[in-house]
Amino acid sequence: MAQDKVFIFDTTLRDGEQVPGCKLNTEEKIKLALELETLGVDIIEAGFPVSSPGDFASVNEISKVIKNATVTGLTRAVQKDIEVAAEALKPAVRPRIHTGIGSSDNHIKYKFNTTRENIIERAIAAVKLARNLVPDVEFYAEDAGRADLQFLAQLTEAVIKAGATVVNVPDTTGFCLPHQYQEKMQYLINNVSNIDKAILSCHCHNDLGLATANSIAGAIGGARQIECTINGIGERAGNTSLEEVAMIIKKHPELGLYTNIDTTRLLPMSRLVSDTMRMVVQPNKAVVGDNAFSHSSGIHQDGFLKEATTYEIIAPEEVGADTSKIVLTARSGRSALAYRFKNLGYEFDRNQVDELYQQFLNVADAKKEVQDSDLKEMAEKVSS
Ligand code: KIV
Ligand code: ZN
Repeated sequence: MAQDKVFIFDTTLRDGEQVPGCKLNTEEKIKLALELETLGVDIIEAGFPVSSPGDFASVNEISKVIKNATVTGLTRAVQKDIEVAAEALKPAVRPRIHTGIGSSDNHIKYKFNTTRENIIERAIAAVKLARNLVPDVEFYAEDAGRADLQFLAQLTEAVIKAGATVVNVPDTTGFCLPHQYQEKMQYLINNVSNIDKAILSCHCHNDLGLATANSIAGAIGGARQIECTINGIGERAGNTSLEEVAMIIKKHPELGLYTNIDTTRLLPMSRLVSDTMRMVVQPNKAVVGDNAFSHSSGIHQDGFLKEATTYEIIAPEEVGADTSKIVLTARSGRSALAYRFKNLGYEFDRNQVDELYQQFLNVADAKKEVQDSDLKEMAEKVSS
């Protein structure tokens, strides 16, 4: 099957950094940007240059050190924003300006108090100005998830004509269902006459827990760029998670898609972002959560110990994790107990394991998790 590249646009340093308490200084941003580049990210959104002198400096410094990835800065469809972004991006090998404006009737009425026609005029002017300053311009149609489809197609056609190389179709409020988001992409591909001159991009928020599903649906619908963040951090309930997207595309070659992400760096990257931003990753987080490779119930442990693929579709080393874990709780079985004893250097026969298992259950009922120290205590009593 032919494979199409999906460009990975990381916005950890911009949308991710909007999370309250996650603000980064320039040094921290540079460190993360370099790691993102090594991870294989194609586009790094380094910040929103006009928003503060600190963010201008971060975008500017990142532009100096990143050599392979495209570096982009966010702007509103406002002359000053665009000029300041172009200035911040000046040292970049591959600069991109990411400009845009609201596209749903809700945003047009309540944020801009204007008309659809005026939105198109402002979008064209912003893209034209940006294209005069850099060769690569991405346009975002904010709240495209709730926008009128015909208007969205009209706006898309107009900004591509004005010079946009990428059109971002954000589901800003995380409202869409996957099939709706997929249809949106398909509609644009089928109804925008100059669509072959630009790439469509997914930017999905997670308000209904659908950000990753919607991004994958968007790619199935024809988008070839996915905007995401490490650990799925971002405004409100967050953005699409980079690690989920990379692993879904890797695990499903039938999609006919690939990314440039070195998946063995996903877990170290997740931990670095979590530590730097002081934002804990939920234990049950897909791909990078602490429990992603832990097996706790007897039925699962028994199957896993016979053959790992019975309960693991991802091998831990594929994402840079050390090993899978057999956790001992009151729901664990004899095979898991024998396995953990063996790891500690104790070999017991079947009868001994049966006997130890009864003791183990008493300890396990009293504790959340049975530790090596508990096992050693039990084992020493049997051995003596
Ligand atoms: O969610 C959104 O619409 C955005 C845009 C600024 C791209 O973050
Ligand atoms: Zn966003």
